Amino acid sequence: MFRPEIELFNDSLARCLRGGQFFQRFYELFLASSPEVSDKFRSTDFRKQRRMLQTSFYMLVEYIALGWPECEAYLERIAAAHGKHGRDIPPHLYDLWLECLLRAVKECDDRCSTQVEAAWRYTMGAGILFLKARYDRPVASLETPG
Ligand code: HEM
Repeated sequence: MFRPEIELFNDSLARCLRGGQFFQRFYELFLASSPEVSDKFRSTDFRKQRRMLQTSFYMLVEYIALGWPECEAYLERIAAAHGKHGRDIPPHLYDLWLECLLRAVKECDDRCSTQVEAAWRYTMGAGILFLKARYDRPVASLETPG
């Protein structure tokens, strides 16, 4: 069963994607927000990165709405890639990430409202909590025991 927030999020994401500039605009804002951020992305292929971020949004929605184990495993992999032993993304950058994302939503979704914004915060908040909670996790604990 989809929660109302998820439906509002899905509809808003679809409107944002219609213009074709949404993820590009988000990364423009995010990279400009701090040298700490632009430094992390200094050798990134952004065409690939935009596609992967979009996929992660769909995975997150499926995980929240349906709890699919495949989606959880995908998110665990993304969390490991962002953790201390991967790209080492410090937890404070997620707040900046969300604010830049919401600025891009306001620019790209012509029906953005406080309700729509809350839906983005609800959905992305779940993903951010997931990744932040795994920041310090040792690589070994990701392996299947035995
Ligand atoms: C909920 C928030 C976030 C989501 C859903 C997300 C999602 C993703 C995904 C799907 C990838 C591709 C992983 C792969 O290679 O398979 C990625 C890579 C990456 N993310 Fe994030 N991310 C988030 C937050 C952040 C934040 C806050 C930063 C801070 C700088 C960040 C920095 C990076 C970097 C540096 C890469 C690797 C780029 C490269 O390949 O050069 N991410 N992210």
